[in-house]
Amino acid sequence: MLGGKRIVLIIGGGIAAYKSLELIRLLRGAGAAVSPVLTRAGAQFVTPLSVAALAGETLYQDLFDLTAETEMGHIQLSRAADLLVVAPATADLMAKMAGGHADDLASTLLMATDKRVLIAPAMNVRMWDHPATQRNLATLGADGVLTVGPERGDMACGEHGPGRMAEPAAIMAAIADALGDGPLAGRHVLVTSGPTHEPIDPVRYIANRSSGAQGAALAAALRDLGARISFVTGPATVPAPSGVTVTRVETARQMRDAALAALPADAAICAAAVADWHVANAGVQKLKKTAGGAPALEFAENPDILAELSAHPARPTLVVGFAAETTDVTAHAQAKRARKGCDWIVANDVSPGTGIMGGADNAVTLITAAGSEDWPRLPKAEVARRLARRIAEALA
Ligand code: C5P
Repeated sequence: MLGGKRIVLIIGGGIAAYKSLELIRLLRGAGAAVSPVLTRAGAQFVTPLSVAALAGETLYQDLFDLTAETEMGHIQLSRAADLLVVAPATADLMAKMAGGHADDLASTLLMATDKRVLIAPAMNVRMWDHPATQRNLATLGADGVLTVGPERGDMACGEHGPGRMAEPAAIMAAIADALGDGPLAGRHVLVTSGPTHEPIDPVRYIANRSSGAQGAALAAALRDLGARISFVTGPATVPAPSGVTVTRVETARQMRDAALAALPADAAICAAAVADWHVANAGVQKLKKTAGGAPALEFAENPDILAELSAHPARPTLVVGFAAETTDVTAHAQAKRARKGCDWIVANDVSPGTGIMGGADNAVTLITAAGSEDWPRLPKAEVARRLARRIAEALA
């Protein structure tokens, strides 16, 4: 999908540099040519031989490696590319870019280019949080530099938090996006995901067992096809994918407001497990045990986001809902499709014993105007990829 594209890949000095070797492999597998550049610090983490062998091209390390420097080799190198990618982008490289330094090959290429630049930051969490890095990030954003990641998680330095370089697959997706490739390039897709929490009082809430895994996998798969994603998520247990615009909400009513605020969109995929009701008489203070017995909770219906999107004046071209059922899955899902006014329903059996709710796999039936299709039991990521391809076909 990146056939004919040339990427200058600048590998900075960080432990995440090993992931850039995989990135080279993925880029070449997708048909791109890679001009690798290894900084002095980068060469402390991966060897020039591995980089050059995987790229299958000359590796550049020094400004004066560019033998044709008299012919402005650095200008050539950065202009012949379709995109410059910096992965890992260290705090130091970001500072150099933000400050306009050009004292080595990487920084000179970045100054001399007339192409877009995508950075995948990777650093210790404190370095990432440091006001200087955040200032540099803002400057780079204002300069039009694109960013993918960093992600949260355990880091090689033993700390936990934001700072891990985005995974190679996410960087690939950001590259495809930056190059405007993929069947969903230029499309905007809204994805709702996760459970909602409906407060009973300030410390208690009503929730459900949704992990948000299927919604997150779908957002990632749609992103990988080049779509711009607005990801509206309740308090899920799986992390939101990188490279998408995330709005975090708690209640169904907040989710509705965030979903409508994301319009217009080409498609809306409602994968969230939205609570049907909220507690109308939720306590402003923590409810106390009283001699009068258990509190009488009163329920009020939540807005139906899927139905509202389906009937909205700015209705997305394709509206897809999910139906988690425990009996008569197909019949209930067909009725739901008609009732909600959406185009497709992705139905699944979440009966106890299927292990689907909160599990790794999903077995779905896709209900469209044309009828219903049973899909085999597949990992949620594969269900997501299949659905994303179908969505791309429907929007083509
Ligand atoms: O009616 P039910 O909850 O079974 O419908 C499930 C589908 O409707 C899912 O796509 C879910 O995201 C969506 N939904 C919604 N807002 C609600 C309830 C469900 O968007 N209040």
